[in-house]
Amino acid sequence: MVKIASSLLAADFAHLGDEIRTVQSAGADMVHLDIMDGHFVPNISFGPAVAALSKLISPLPHDAHLMVTEPENYIESFAKTGVEYIIFHIEIEGIKKDLGAGKWVYVADNIRHPQRIKNVIERIKKAGCKAGLTLNPPTKMEVAYPYLKEVDLLLLMSVNPGFAGQKFIPEVYEKIPAAAHHRQENKLNFEIMIDGGVGLDNARELIKSGADILVAGSSFFGSSDRTSFIHQMKS
Ligand code: DX5
Ligand code: ZN
Repeated sequence: MVKIASSLLAADFAHLGDEIRTVQSAGADMVHLDIMDGHFVPNISFGPAVAALSKLISPLPHDAHLMVTEPENYIESFAKTGVEYIIFHIEIEGIKKDLGAGKWVYVADNIRHPQRIKNVIERIKKAGCKAGLTLNPPTKMEVAYPYLKEVDLLLLMSVNPGFAGQKFIPEVYEKIPAAAHHRQENKLNFEIMIDGGVGLDNARELIKSGADILVAGSSFFGSSDRTSFIHQMKS
């Protein structure tokens, strides 16, 4: 059955403890932590302190989605908080594309230093965590194939990262079956997670396409009945 990860980015930070508690009581499976450095994405969020707090409050598995240009500098500090997954972007080896209005997105085309990607994966595992690799919407699926043998999770972004509450970008529907096909052909077993603009209007289609984990931020925290929301997302 599909798993739901609630993204704390959309929680009410004035009542963060209570918000974290409702993730489990509503029946979600994971807590998704969005870490932003103001360089890789046009926003700054929070660091390991919030990850440690959330791990203390909630027994659920946590994933740290690192939207940072130098994940190498933060692997050990997040591993120490007890998060189960550390996910980083393949676009750390990409180029910055200006989107106007003070926004941008990094895109990866040809990876100049493939060994760097492999080293980050290796270091995450050495730190005792599951390793996740993620792709921004403009990055083609094929760019990730050389690394999928090593990873535990593939995160496909369905918004340009930086903010909660953005509109879903439907091109991800083509990437999911391609990733699932590659996984089967090569006898791999990474999980496929989808993040950005996910809610009741697209969950069914995403699950049908082959998603294993759906991240829900605004749709979860904005719901008036979070328990029924999770129930509906899974059915
Ligand atoms: C976007 C983040 C997402 C986001 C999800 O940069 O990586 O995890 O917070 O929030 P919603 O579900 O509101 O798009
Ligand atoms: Zn995220």
